[in-house]
Amino acid sequence: MDALTTLVILLSYVVSILRICSAVDSITVNQMIQDGETITSAGGSFELGFFSRPANSNKRYLGIWYKKVATGTVAWVANRELPLNDTSGVLKVTDQGKLVLLNGANTIIWSSNSSRSAQNPNAQLLESGNLVMKNGNDSDPENFLWQSFDHPSSTLLPGMKLGRNIITGLDRRLSSWKSTDDPSRGNFTYRLDPNGFPQLIVMQGSDVTFRSGPWNGLRFSGFPEMRPNPVFKYDFVFNEKEMYFTFDLVNSSVITRLELNPNGDLQRLVWIDRTQGWTVYATAQKDDCDIYALCGGYATCNINDSPRCDCMKGFVPKFPDEWNRMDWSGGCDRNIALNCQNGDGFLKYSGIKLPDTRNSEFNRSMNLKECESLCLRTCSCTAYSNLDISRGGSGCLLWFDNLTDIRDFTEDGQEFYVRMAASEVDAFASSSKRKKQRWVISISASIVALILLSLLLGLYILKKKKKKKKKLKRKGTMLYNLEGSQTNERQEDLDLPLFDLTTICNATNNFSIDNKLGQEGFGSVYKVST
Ligand SMILES: *[C@@H]1O[C@H](CO)[C@@H](O)[C@H](O)[C@H]1NC(C)=O
Ligand SMILES: *[C@@H]1O[C@H](CO)[C@@H](O)[C@H](O)[C@H]1NC(C)=O
Ligand SMILES: *[C@@H]1O[C@H](CO)[C@@H](O)[C@H](O)[C@H]1NC(C)=O
Ligand SMILES: *[C@@H]1O[C@H](CO)[C@@H](O)[C@H](O)[C@H]1NC(C)=O
Ligand SMILES: *[C@@H]1O[C@H](CO)[C@@H](O)[C@H](O)[C@H]1NC(C)=O
Ligand SMILES: *[C@@H]1O[C@H](CO)[C@@H](O)[C@H](O)[C@H]1NC(C)=O
Ligand SMILES: *[C@@H]1O[C@H](CO)[C@@H](O)[C@H](O)[C@H]1NC(C)=O
Repeated sequence: MDALTTLVILLSYVVSILRICSAVDSITVNQMIQDGETITSAGGSFELGFFSRPANSNKRYLGIWYKKVATGTVAWVANRELPLNDTSGVLKVTDQGKLVLLNGANTIIWSSNSSRSAQNPNAQLLESGNLVMKNGNDSDPENFLWQSFDHPSSTLLPGMKLGRNIITGLDRRLSSWKSTDDPSRGNFTYRLDPNGFPQLIVMQGSDVTFRSGPWNGLRFSGFPEMRPNPVFKYDFVFNEKEMYFTFDLVNSSVITRLELNPNGDLQRLVWIDRTQGWTVYATAQKDDCDIYALCGGYATCNINDSPRCDCMKGFVPKFPDEWNRMDWSGGCDRNIALNCQNGDGFLKYSGIKLPDTRNSEFNRSMNLKECESLCLRTCSCTAYSNLDISRGGSGCLLWFDNLTDIRDFTEDGQEFYVRMAASEVDAFASSSKRKKQRWVISISASIVALILLSLLLGLYILKKKKKKKKKLKRKGTMLYNLEGSQTNERQEDLDLPLFDLTTICNATNNFSIDNKLGQEGFGSVYKVST
């Protein structure tokens, strides 16, 4: 062995030792990751390498998993559809700025692609769990050649965007694993549907199974429990360039992720150190009422009612037999047809999950009044609401078809207005007015009765006292009331006329509304008929 060879061998040793020692989080064009090797993000939260599913099988996947905590939980998989059959896999960065995964026969089994030109490209695993391809040290996300956050598997990590880049057409969606042991694409996807006003939906194949409802400025209409919390904050961005949902951590010491399960459940999981396990913080599909369109069109679902489905006011089941057999999917029909020319009206609903907006239109600058008149003018418009309920409400959302997938949440403040025939609006308005009147009458009648009773009681007591006093006076004694003042000066007022309750009831015709003269601060005044 000559001196030069020895030197070369020595140098290559030094280079490889240097690479291992400087806790690598990136690879460049001349480097590679072989099966068994990994790179780790700078803070040690995530690791990239090869893993097996099922755990002891020879199916090898390239992926990213949690490292510091939740060790081994897979957050992203590259070759989901085509596992390697052995440990011959190699990940490389090409001169063109692509990541390629090669098998033992040097065939590309997975690759990233990019439309941008590369200069000194390198791949880096960021502390967020994002694997990015960048030019040199250009760490501006706008300039990344490629990033794994743009191609999610079944996990949404903090900082990821779920939704679309309108300009490039990039659509980031979650797709479930086939099973917990099989990362290949399962039947479910979670995505932002851009039709009408955008909503997040879970789909099984081409069928919608769950809908978040539209974003109302504070939260998704179907997630009333989505409130400011100490764990994470969320946002919905919708402008000319992008529409997406994202969340971020409030306190980075909390580990949380959103996961679309193999069976289509969308869950938020939180890592619990004490138990060293993930716990389900919330599941999007809370109960049967979250099954998409369970009740059909023009019906609402209330999980506390039996049956759960109920036609909206002024609607009746389209197929009564099926409806009674708890097959509600046929939905409901109007009692009285609309009549756009002769003027329709609107019935207000509150505390609901807004219906499917895939066939809706919106205008951000209109107010509710303008929204109503636009809906009224447009004969095909079936309902309207504010687009944004924050800051007192703004914007206009209009529906144009059967209203479907409505939930009744009694607490939440979301309101919307359903187009009805004018006669129906009158009927419901006056029936609720009558109900209100009946309430007022019964309450004021009981108040009056109470006042009269106490008056009678008071008079009775005073009369007794007076008799007693007269007796006492005869003995020449001074009388004091409870406050200690003399009661002499009040004696003149005591001679009020006394009626018994029967007399009063007869006179006021049982506190009849016809005898009511007016209403005072805390009671009603009645005319006495003789
Ligand atoms: C692994 O083996 C299966 C079955 O033999 C084959 O279809 C597949 O292409 C192989 N995967 C790779 C990455 O070579
Ligand atoms: C990436 O590759 C896919 C096909 O594999 C192609 O449809 C798509 O246009 C490519 N994207 C870019 C940015 O080159
Ligand atoms: C990137 O590298 C260039 C040249 O090596 C240097 O001038 C520049 O300051 C670096 N930028 C950052 C953000 O490190
Ligand atoms: C996915 O869909 C196929 C075909 O509809 C079905 O056979 C399979 O059981 C489904 N898998 C899951 C996990 O639901
Ligand atoms: C974050 O959480 C940790 C542990 O619960 C706590 O010690 C820390 O004070 C929190 N930090 C902030 C900024 O709230
Ligand atoms: C929204 O409504 C305003 C006020 O009526 C109108 O000027 C504007 O053109 C509408 N925008 C769209 C996109 O229709
Ligand atoms: C809406 O109702 C009409 C008539 O009842 C029905 O023909 C149509 O299929 C329904 N559309 C949807 C989207 O449910």
